[in-house]
Amino acid sequence: SGYQVAVVGATGAVGTKMLEMLAEADFPIAGVKLLASKRSAGKVLLFKDQELVIEETTAESFEGIDIALFSAGGSVSKEFAPEAVKRGAVVIDNTSAFRMDLNVPLVVPQVNELALKEHQGIIANPNCSTIQMMVALEPVRKAYGLSRIIVSTYQAVSGAGVSAINELKEQSQKMLNDEPVEAHILPCGGDKKHFPIAFNALPQIDVFSDAGYTYEEWKMMNETKKIMADETIKVAATCVRIPVVSGHSESIYFEVKDELATVFGIQNELEKAPGVVLQDDPATQLYPTALTSVGKKETFVGRVRKDLDDDLGFHMWVVSDNLLKGAAWNSIEIAESLHRLDLVRVPK
Ligand code: A2P
Repeated sequence: SGYQVAVVGATGAVGTKMLEMLAEADFPIAGVKLLASKRSAGKVLLFKDQELVIEETTAESFEGIDIALFSAGGSVSKEFAPEAVKRGAVVIDNTSAFRMDLNVPLVVPQVNELALKEHQGIIANPNCSTIQMMVALEPVRKAYGLSRIIVSTYQAVSGAGVSAINELKEQSQKMLNDEPVEAHILPCGGDKKHFPIAFNALPQIDVFSDAGYTYEEWKMMNETKKIMADETIKVAATCVRIPVVSGHSESIYFEVKDELATVFGIQNELEKAPGVVLQDDPATQLYPTALTSVGKKETFVGRVRKDLDDDLGFHMWVVSDNLLKGAAWNSIEIAESLHRLDLVRVPK
């Protein structure tokens, strides 16, 4: 016995990590079904030591599935997640398709696991940059309250999929050879212009939306309020893509409510917090970096320091593997929570 699990988008940057993380999941798995587009049907991927043949995603693919992990883009989720739920599968969706829907829990298990109790079949995995920020700020919020967040991100290209990773590598090679470079993918597929990411920094992730903010920035601002269940937290984000393959970094300025908060107190809370590793010692140059976070499931925090002008203000540096805690691993942790809470079923 155990769950039948489907991975939708199994060939993608996140999907391949889903498979790796599933092998470490703390719930019983009876079988795994790999789904992608027609292009990949018939290709083979390994799960543990088993060869699994990829199938094209159709509505019928979800017959007999208990847990469906979606990471094939928003339009695939919009089309097939309801079909999966209709057939009795609980969907954990990595895209932004359903995140802000009122009846869809948006969950980081270390922060709001119990929101899962309200699920109607679909659970949303938050945006990668939001997740690591929540993991690092929830211990601060619990201990001292949180009134304001101003975050600037330094995001890796793998968040934009396999094609963006390839683009960074090809452009980098060409630049080193003094050859002309072309850009086709970044800053994002949905916009008209493209710019090189190699040796560059692009202040646009996803398309532009209201008030001069991009969708990625709106995701961080809206999702924070939903996950922390507090509409009063002030949040402003600037999201930047940098030429790193994996590992998102964030410079976070935050203001607490409790004037007794200290750097030492915050470090102490972070040290005890689930899913957090404190790496903070300027004297020995200890701080997290993108490269050291790759392949790890935790969120790493360093550079905790007091703002010199605002009594309630602090700064920190937060890094995590965007494909793991930012995507695949958070989805698996959601599935673990669902299993533990006996919620792997679609309510009638
Ligand atoms: P495929 O490789 O067959 O195109 P990434 O985020 O790395 O770009 O990966 C996107 C994932 O979504 C891939 O696994 C891709 O499969 C999958 N995908 C893209 N379009 C569809 C579709 N129409 N139906 C199912 N899966 C899709």
